Amino acid sequence: MSEQSSLVTDQHFRYIAERTTPEDPFLKDLKRAATAEGIPSIWIAPEQASFMQILLQAARAREVVEVGTLAGYSAITMARALPADGRVRTIELEAKHADFAERWVAKSDVAGRVQVHRGKGMDVLPGFAADSADAAFLDADKGSYPQYLTECLRIVRRGGLIMVDNAFAFGELFATTPSDREVGAIRAFNDLMAKTPALQSVIVPIGDGLWVGVKR
Ligand SMILES: C[S@@+](CC[C@H](N)C(=O)[O-])C[C@H]1O[C@@H](n2cnc3c(N)ncnc32)[C@H](O)[C@@H]1O
Repeated sequence: MSEQSSLVTDQHFRYIAERTTPEDPFLKDLKRAATAEGIPSIWIAPEQASFMQILLQAARAREVVEVGTLAGYSAITMARALPADGRVRTIELEAKHADFAERWVAKSDVAGRVQVHRGKGMDVLPGFAADSADAAFLDADKGSYPQYLTECLRIVRRGGLIMVDNAFAFGELFATTPSDREVGAIRAFNDLMAKTPALQSVIVPIGDGLWVGVKR
């Protein structure tokens, strides 16, 4: 068997996206409404949502913690992968985003499965009990990722999942003069994840690069 690996190109990303189960009209409407209200269109891609749903179902997750709600797109998609008594606790700093997400969660098919917590991730996470989640998804301010990771290693049970977005730093991972100010924080976090013995983890080349770790 060859040890040569195949490079993941833009063409591969498009190929994957074109072969992903399409979004339903509700999620398309949510994105249109969020854009119309001036909320940035920085939600996860449908193929990443689909992959995370598969992971959550394979892990038989019931309780999920998220940092970074935005319009509620990822929270709703994750909640759809949980059993009827499952719950996504999602944390959002911006009141405008939290308001929008709460409205759209309320009219979604998973209204009872998503709780929006308002505030900074680092203020809210310490209030969540140890071993109270089967999975966590980090998708907010990158500079806080190391602290979020510490908190999630406490909150997520052994064998649970820790997923972290933007390992590819908005496409600027290898840029010599990156335009985004969070690129340095992501590079440092990627090195930290790779050296975290409490996790078996890998960057999956989907979306903007998704860290998937299992708590040992
Ligand atoms: C990339 S968006 C999240 C996208 C969302 N996960 C999705 O895919 O649908 C990041 C969100 O994190 C929020 N945020 C930024 N800093 C935060 C903090 N310190 N605590 C909680 N949320 C924060 C932003 O307001 C924004 O809504």
